[in-house]
Amino acid sequence: MARQRVAVIFGGRSGEHEVSLRSARSVMGALDTERWEVAPIGVTRSGAWLSVGETKAALAAGAEAFDEGGAALATDGALAELGACDVAFPLVHGTYGEDGCLQGLLEMTGIPYAGAGVAASGVGMDKALQKALFREAGIPVARYVVLRRPEVEGDGDEARRFVEDEVGYPCFTKPANGGSSIGITRAASREDLGGAFAAALAHDEKVVVEQAVDGREIECSMLGNEAPEAAGVVGEIEPDREFYDYDSKYAADSGTTLHVPARIEADTSERVRELARRMYLAMGCEGYARVDFFVGADGTATGSEVNTIPGFTSISMFPRLWEASGLPYRELLTRILDLALERGERGAAR
Ligand SMILES: Nc1ncnc2c1ncn2[C@@H]1O[C@H](COP(=O)(O)OP(=O)(O)O)[C@@H](O)[C@H]1O
Ligand SMILES: [Mg+2]
Repeated sequence: MARQRVAVIFGGRSGEHEVSLRSARSVMGALDTERWEVAPIGVTRSGAWLSVGETKAALAAGAEAFDEGGAALATDGALAELGACDVAFPLVHGTYGEDGCLQGLLEMTGIPYAGAGVAASGVGMDKALQKALFREAGIPVARYVVLRRPEVEGDGDEARRFVEDEVGYPCFTKPANGGSSIGITRAASREDLGGAFAAALAHDEKVVVEQAVDGREIECSMLGNEAPEAAGVVGEIEPDREFYDYDSKYAADSGTTLHVPARIEADTSERVRELARRMYLAMGCEGYARVDFFVGADGTATGSEVNTIPGFTSISMFPRLWEASGLPYRELLTRILDLALERGERGAAR
């Protein structure tokens, strides 16, 4: 079979730029070169798209090379080169990458792409929309409220009372659109709430406040289009601090432990996998995604969130769970790209 050309798109404007670079390096290093020819397309921190040649030079020069300015898509090369690819692998985390924007651009170019489509990506990025959808689908989720900037800033007292009546303490305040725990605070009491709101509002106009759920953090890897499957082995994150914040996710000295498999009973793991399937389908995900839960000591599972572009280095949870379930990293990448091509052929990319 002739090799097919894959545009690996990474970097971008979000706070998760660095993480994206790491994911992309791993993916590009592991793609099966007998099946796929890699065309790296880097997006700088300011949103400028680099041509394949510029991207290769920047990759060789190191992460700082992606700091340069320039307008989005101003580079002549990038779009034309994207157009010459058979399939795209978007690995831009966060805003403009994971939220449906990049997927929309790819729809318009007509190039099949890996992972969730426009709508599922948009919902996946917005914790308020996502929670509403899960609740509607009968998925157990933590009690929560959604507040907008004017409600929080206009009359702080009213917002606080609303949170106390509907959610209580401890609670988690989050920017509705976010990732990597950026802007998230655990508020243990009334005193914490003001600062917690401000931290969330620094990143978004909309704040989600959620009741804190006691339990292990369990993650499930999904793969598939119309008939998705959950990886046989589910994983567990054991943060080395109060919750899984930015540093416990990425700091070099983080003591966070990834347990594969999770330290839960087999029947609990089975229920989590079934719930993960329901959440994936409720959101209309395609290709792949990682679905996260809290599991209480009594085995009760609460849906937390779906990540449509999860961390993708070879040691990230998403690929590790597939590896532990018998699907090695390289084959997983081929499966994801084949699913993209299959969806493209159906013309059902949205
Ligand atoms: N309702 C909750 N109960 C307990 N812990 C929570 C809750 N919400 C968030 N957390 C903690 O904060 C982390 C990040 O929250 P999450 O909603 O997953 O946002 P992100 O999209 O940034 O990963 C979680 O992994 C967990 O450690
Ligand atoms: Mg999370």
